[in-house]
Amino acid sequence: MYEFIPDNPYLLLTPGPLSTSKSVRNALLRDWCTWDADYNEDIVQNIRRRLVALATKKIGDYTAVLMQGSGSFSVEATIGSVVPPDGKLLVITNGAYGDRIARMAKVLKLKHIAYSCFETEAPKPEILSIILGEHPDITHTALVHCETTTGMLNPLSEIAKVAKKHGNVFILDAMSSFGGIPFDMADCNIDFLISSANKCIQGVPGFGFVIAKKEELLKCKDNARSLCLDLYGQWKEMDKSGKWRYTSPTHIVRAFYQALDELEIEGGVEARYQRYCKNQQLLVNGMKELGFRPFLPKELQSPIITSFVYPTLDFNFDNFYKIVKKLGFVLYPGKVSQADTFRIGNIGEVFPKDIMRLLEVIESIRNEI
Ligand SMILES: Cc1ncc(COP(=O)(O)O)c(C=O)c1O
Repeated sequence: MYEFIPDNPYLLLTPGPLSTSKSVRNALLRDWCTWDADYNEDIVQNIRRRLVALATKKIGDYTAVLMQGSGSFSVEATIGSVVPPDGKLLVITNGAYGDRIARMAKVLKLKHIAYSCFETEAPKPEILSIILGEHPDITHTALVHCETTTGMLNPLSEIAKVAKKHGNVFILDAMSSFGGIPFDMADCNIDFLISSANKCIQGVPGFGFVIAKKEELLKCKDNARSLCLDLYGQWKEMDKSGKWRYTSPTHIVRAFYQALDELEIEGGVEARYQRYCKNQQLLVNGMKELGFRPFLPKELQSPIITSFVYPTLDFNFDNFYKIVKKLGFVLYPGKVSQADTFRIGNIGEVFPKDIMRLLEVIESIRNEI
C-alpha cells in the first residue's frame, strides 16, 4: 500500500508544475548576485549552451533565450517578436494550447488564420499544403508538439516539412515535450522552439525559454509588440554576458541548472523518454484493467499525459480527486471540450514504482467512486 513521501504530501501527476527531485528543490536555497560571472557566466550562459545542445547537433546555428514568466509568456514573446508587420501567421490547432496561440495573435493584432482540427484529430500535412497553397501571404506557421489538452503528439516532422516547402518560418510550442521526447530541431526544420523550466527538464516554475535559429532571430529586431516580451531584445542583452534585461529569477535558474545535471545523469533525453514511455504504458494498461478507457487512440497518444474518459455517467471526478490526493497523488481535471475526461501526467520525478502505487491506490478505492 502507498506510503507518504517524507518531504512532499503528494506526488504531482500533472503536466506542470510537476514533481521535482529533492536536490532540484535544495538548489533553490541560496542567493545569487546577478552582476557576477559566477551567476551570469557559470549558470545562465552555461544553461543557454546546454539547451542548444539538447535541441540540436548543429549548435553553431542556434541560440537559447531565457524569458521570465510562465511558458505562455515565452510563446507570446515569440509570436509577438518574430512575425513582422507585413507577415501573416498560420496557427495549427487541435486543443487549448493551439487556441491560446491564436488568441495571442488576436490580442497582438497580428495577421493570422487558424487551421483548426477536432481535439481527437491530428493535423494533416496534405491539408496544410492546400491551406498554404491558397494563402501565399502566410509567412509563419505555428504548431503545438504535444497538445497537453488531450495528450496528443502532433506529427511534427511531416507538418514542419510542408511549412518549409512553402517557405514558412516554423514555430513549435514544445512546452510539454522538450527534454522528454528526442528530436533534433535542425533535422525537423524548426526555427523557434519554446518550452519552460517546469516541464520535461524537471525544474521548478518561473521562466520559459526559446531556442532559435540565429539567422531567423536576427531578422526580428524592432518587431516586438511588447517591451518586456521582446525576444530579440532579451537575446541581445543576454548574449553579451548572461545578464537578463530585467530581474532574473535567480533561484529558479540555479534549480534549473541542477535539473539539467540530473537529466544528464539519467542518460539524457533518450533515457528520460524511455522512462516516460514506461510510466505511460504501465499507467494505461493498469487503468484499463481498472475499467478506465483512454480518450485517444494509441497511435496519437504521447508518453507525457493521458486523458481518461469518465468510467460511468455518474462518475464524480472531484470526489475521486480528493480521495486520491489524500492518498498521495494529485491528478488533473480534463480539458477536452467534447467529452468528460480527466488527465494523469507521468512526467517529472515520477518512476514506474510510483505508477504502480497509484494503480494500487485507485484499485483500493474502486468501490468508493
Ligand atoms: C503545450 C503547452 N503550451 C503552453 C502551455 C502554457 O504554459 P504555462 O502554463 O507555463 O504558461 C502549456 C502548459 O501546460 C502547454 O502544455
